[in-house]
Amino acid sequence: MHGQRIWTNARLATLTLGLSGLGEIDHGLIACDADGAILYAGPEAEAPTLPAAEVIDCEGRWITPGLIDPHTHLVYAGDRAHEFELRLAGASYEAIARAGGGILSTVTATRAATQEQLTAAALPRLDALIAEGVTTVEIKSGYGLTLADELKQLRAARALGEARDVDVVLSFLGAHALPPEYVGDADGYIASVCEQMIPAVAAEGLAGAVDVFCEGIGFTPAQTRRVFEAARGHGLQVKLHAEQLSNQNGAALAAEFCALSADHLEHLDEAGVAAMALAGTVAVLLPGAYYFVRETQLPPIALLRAHGVPIALATDCNPGTSPLTSLLLTMNMGATLFRLTVEECLAGVTREAARALGRLDQIGTLEAGKRCDLAIWEIERPAELVYRMGFNPLHTRVRGGR
Ligand code: NIG
Ligand code: FE
Repeated sequence: MHGQRIWTNARLATLTLGLSGLGEIDHGLIACDADGAILYAGPEAEAPTLPAAEVIDCEGRWITPGLIDPHTHLVYAGDRAHEFELRLAGASYEAIARAGGGILSTVTATRAATQEQLTAAALPRLDALIAEGVTTVEIKSGYGLTLADELKQLRAARALGEARDVDVVLSFLGAHALPPEYVGDADGYIASVCEQMIPAVAAEGLAGAVDVFCEGIGFTPAQTRRVFEAARGHGLQVKLHAEQLSNQNGAALAAEFCALSADHLEHLDEAGVAAMALAGTVAVLLPGAYYFVRETQLPPIALLRAHGVPIALATDCNPGTSPLTSLLLTMNMGATLFRLTVEECLAGVTREAARALGRLDQIGTLEAGKRCDLAIWEIERPAELVYRMGFNPLHTRVRGGR
């Protein structure tokens, strides 16, 4: 194996599991092979001799794993700025949704758009994430709500990964809202999700996981269970929008299906926390949505810590509850609003985000064998990545060694 590229004179935050803190290495070196995998990440003094095509002097800059956003609704048409104004005038997110706005207004716009238009509309949002060192992003469907429109949305998301040098991880969220065609027949819609959409999504390899919005204004736990069973039947993993506005015991249901993650979780109780811990289900916290809907119920951080539930952070980028395209600001909100530590925030957008996507074996830490996805920062200490608001100290982003 030939070392193809070497980054020297760097300070590393490897995020390696089991190391204390951020796995910091003062005089660090990273070498990557011709296939874009990390050959070595560690102290410069202990590095093996590596024939290198190119040596890059980092001049003491910090290197972290490339950032990972494990929960977004990045692909949609239109915007909801007018609903923001309604909310400023006193309307609640739930009231707007019940009046036919909310998710459904984005569904109308998304159905009217072509696949190419959806990709084009999402590109500036994706570029904003990439500009801050994001190398992997999860993207959900859920604004089509017909077989054809859900497939269109997923294909548009997949095309983003071809338009940019970024890894796109797709999730199918057909059970996001009840489409107008099925008003009064939620079970009928769930049948179509299970019997038509999931088989088609699986057949085209368009998603690795299936998500559901389990909520009073979404779908019931019984309907969620049916969707999870269909997902399992097609070899797809599951995850859940759980306990966002009320406690539906969704996280425990997700854990029962060994879900990758349960997300939002403001109204999660201790039984749900314990179930997640047992199943290894990651808590994906979304401080942008908490902030934007002015939620006052905090997710049970102390319980998550006490039970050892892994915590990840994501933007939840979507037009209704979190028009946010910054993982750096997400970390700041995680610290400021949820009182997460700097270590928890940085692990939350790297190692734990990788775990939430079921990809910890490939990405999320700086370790030999993983893909060489790096973010190189113009900072003096890692805490700066969490501390600042609206400032981007990214120096270079590296994906697969390039
Ligand atoms: O993650 N809660 C459901 N889904 C999104 C909101 C989608 C929307 O309002 O368009 C969320 O908050
Ligand atoms: Fe979401």
